[in-house]
Amino acid sequence: MSLLEARSVTRRFGGLTAVNAVDFRVETGEIVGLIGPNGAGKTTFFNLISGFLRPDEGDVLFDGHSILGHKPSDICKRGMTRTFQIVKPFPEMTVTDNVLVGAFNHHGDTGAALAKARSVIELVGLGPQAGKLGRELTVAGRKRVELAKALATEPKLMLLDEVMAGLTPSEVGAMIEVLGRVRDAGVTMVIVEHVMQVIMNLSDRIYVLHHGEAIAEGPPREIVANPRVMEAYLGESFVAEAGAEPAT
Ligand SMILES: Nc1ncnc2c1ncn2[C@@H]1O[C@H](COP(=O)(O)OP(=O)(O)O)[C@@H](O)[C@H]1O
Ligand SMILES: [Mg+2]
Repeated sequence: MSLLEARSVTRRFGGLTAVNAVDFRVETGEIVGLIGPNGAGKTTFFNLISGFLRPDEGDVLFDGHSILGHKPSDICKRGMTRTFQIVKPFPEMTVTDNVLVGAFNHHGDTGAALAKARSVIELVGLGPQAGKLGRELTVAGRKRVELAKALATEPKLMLLDEVMAGLTPSEVGAMIEVLGRVRDAGVTMVIVEHVMQVIMNLSDRIYVLHHGEAIAEGPPREIVANPRVMEAYLGESFVAEAGAEPAT
């Protein structure tokens, strides 16, 4: 049984079909990449599988049960959580308190929640900044807080929406290391990302969305050699970057 399975999921906005009959599955332990040009439907798809939007058609199964119509907070309690493309930590709260908000998802007890918050803050490398306020953080710091908040909910499956956006190349390298540690801690992930180095480094399998349709699925090496994928990205930076060997 797959950890997550989307069956022919469709969502329309007026006359626009943003996500069109997408089949998608994630097995426990995998890192699955979800890529596609701007406007392809990636964020909408995340919203559909995490309960923020309801599909017009299709079904979403998590851990073998349909989660259609469930609230995001219930889905989070079952073990699926997501980060947002736009990150907004509470500006007047410390890093620890921001992350604590996520930790209360599973722990009613403040001591246990605090212990959880501290451990995920260390995991994402924010230990030295734990006492800083949200508004004092750089973009890279805010992205790590977003990740730590999601991890503090103790997810089985974490959906990451462009956690590398706005980071410098060295910050991207550091974040790849962080995500490697998260994987080693046993968290299954779906990552939406424009930075090909990240997708190629981390993904076991990749899905490609284009105009709301899943046009390709497979391991990274197959995806970069797929003519339909190249065509979808013509005019974007993907072709040049994808030709490079993935760094190991
Ligand atoms: N709430 C909404 N109302 C109307 N159109 C939307 C809404 N959300 C997304 N869209 C449209 O759906 C398409 C897919 O958007 P999105 O999922 O954000 O793409 P991506 O994340 O791949 O860049 C775009 O054409 C976008 O304008
Ligand atoms: Mg998006």
